[in-house]
Amino acid sequence: MSTILVTRKIPKIGLTLLKEAGHKVKLYNKSTAMPRKAMLQAVKGCDAMLSLLTDKIDEEFFIAAGMQLKIVANYAVGYDNFDLKAFKKRGVLAANTPMVLNVAVAEHAIALIMAAAKRLAEADRFVRGGKYKGWEPELLLGTELAGKTLGVLGLGRIGADVARRAAKGLDMKVLYFDVKRNEAFEKELGATYATAEELLKNSDVVSVHVPLLPTTRHLIDAKKLKLMKKTAILVNTSRGPVIDEKALVAALKAKRIAAAGLDVFEFEPKLVPGLAKLPNVTLTPHTASATTEARDAMARIAAQGIIDVLAGKTPSNLVPLP
Ligand code: GLV
Ligand code: GLV
Repeated sequence: MSTILVTRKIPKIGLTLLKEAGHKVKLYNKSTAMPRKAMLQAVKGCDAMLSLLTDKIDEEFFIAAGMQLKIVANYAVGYDNFDLKAFKKRGVLAANTPMVLNVAVAEHAIALIMAAAKRLAEADRFVRGGKYKGWEPELLLGTELAGKTLGVLGLGRIGADVARRAAKGLDMKVLYFDVKRNEAFEKELGATYATAEELLKNSDVVSVHVPLLPTTRHLIDAKKLKLMKKTAILVNTSRGPVIDEKALVAALKAKRIAAAGLDVFEFEPKLVPGLAKLPNVTLTPHTASATTEARDAMARIAAQGIIDVLAGKTPSNLVPLP
């Protein structure tokens, strides 16, 4: 019997799978993140850990855990909380939850795009605030998406799923930028490859889907925001630090771009001053993957990865180590 630390309450199916495989589950059964000190103590002697994206997994963590630790499975597709060099050095495997949340996040990105174009959050506040006094020809004018251009920054599976929905469901044209060109994708959607600069200049909607890496931190900064159209909508469901949030607030305030939809924040859960006061932003609390379907599937795949590794098998959801 192996012992597995789970650092937060996750959908039950994940815990059930671990227990059914005969393992002992040490669960931090709270709705807030496990404090670092408590985590470093609790992981001592554990064979595996199911981590959240708020748990920093680094050298200090591995020293606290001990040599028996075999795998850390992140309950997220993004793993910028993992120091992969430290994993490699210690011979510990890393896993994430790819594929199972693509639809949830892609649909959420589309929802934020629609919310910004149709000014949904603003309109909801308007009605609730008792400001609706009667129909007006030019009340809360939004914009149409058909025929407009979506720029997908980062063409992973989620970016591609957003592009499909925008092209097929909303009749949008698609530009994309990625470190790799993808000709099959271009053919599939009639999409056009562009440099990041060209994409920012020519898109009516920009949706960000890059992982957080040293090279993508502040990928969108004050200078890049200046390239965008005045009428542009910027949506981020990837990681907050990809956008310089202070520069974004300044750009929105000065109406250098029209609107934003953000599910992630640079200093999460804190917002930079002024952001929450802007009428033309729609904000969600990192809930893009928060569908019942995706969160259950994430619990399953994270648990199964641990079960496989502890049984000496290679799971499908390992993160390649450097
Ligand atoms: C959530 O942000 C994830 O990376 O799964
Ligand atoms: C996620 O799975 C991505 O590749 O974008």
